[in-house]
Amino acid sequence: MLDDLGLVPAVRWQCETTLGDHGLEATVDDRLGATRLPRHVEVALFRIIQEAVSNVARHSDARHVEIDLMRDGEIVTVVVADDGKGFEVELAVGMAGSYDSVGLSGMAERVALLDGSMQVRSAPGAGTTIEVKVPVGGVSA
Ligand SMILES: Nc1ncnc2c1ncn2[C@@H]1O[C@H](COP(=O)(O)OP(=O)(O)O)[C@@H](O)[C@H]1O
Ligand SMILES: [Mg+2]
Repeated sequence: MLDDLGLVPAVRWQCETTLGDHGLEATVDDRLGATRLPRHVEVALFRIIQEAVSNVARHSDARHVEIDLMRDGEIVTVVVADDGKGFEVELAVGMAGSYDSVGLSGMAERVALLDGSMQVRSAPGAGTTIEVKVPVGGVSA
């Protein structure tokens, strides 16, 4: 699916299938440009967005989720922002300083493998924004 469609259409398809039943509206803003990302970057970003969107559907009570994908030279930024109930990010971080739960820690691991960074901004009542930045490391053919 991802290989055939490309990242953004795969994300759109995933939003339609995951969010349809939740009364949740998704907006996907594609500013990646015409060049496809390397396959391993697409796969990692797709998995990260998939987990973030499923968290929005399961936990947020949001009305809207905004997914922005942009590319600035060698850096790709993905933002998944919802207007839901938010959560205490500190409470999701365990003793070792990493996330206790598999979803957020899996996202953080994928980002780390790409030498990227992930920021989770949330507070009760204030929605949740996840921002991931990864270097593309050269343009794939
Ligand atoms: N978009 C979100 N809105 C509200 N709470 C969230 C959101 N994303 C994550 N959370 C909170 O962070 C916790 C950890 O998320 P995650 O690691 O994906 O584990 P899981 O989804 O299995 O509970 C969730 O249980 C939830 O309380
Ligand atoms: Mg989860």
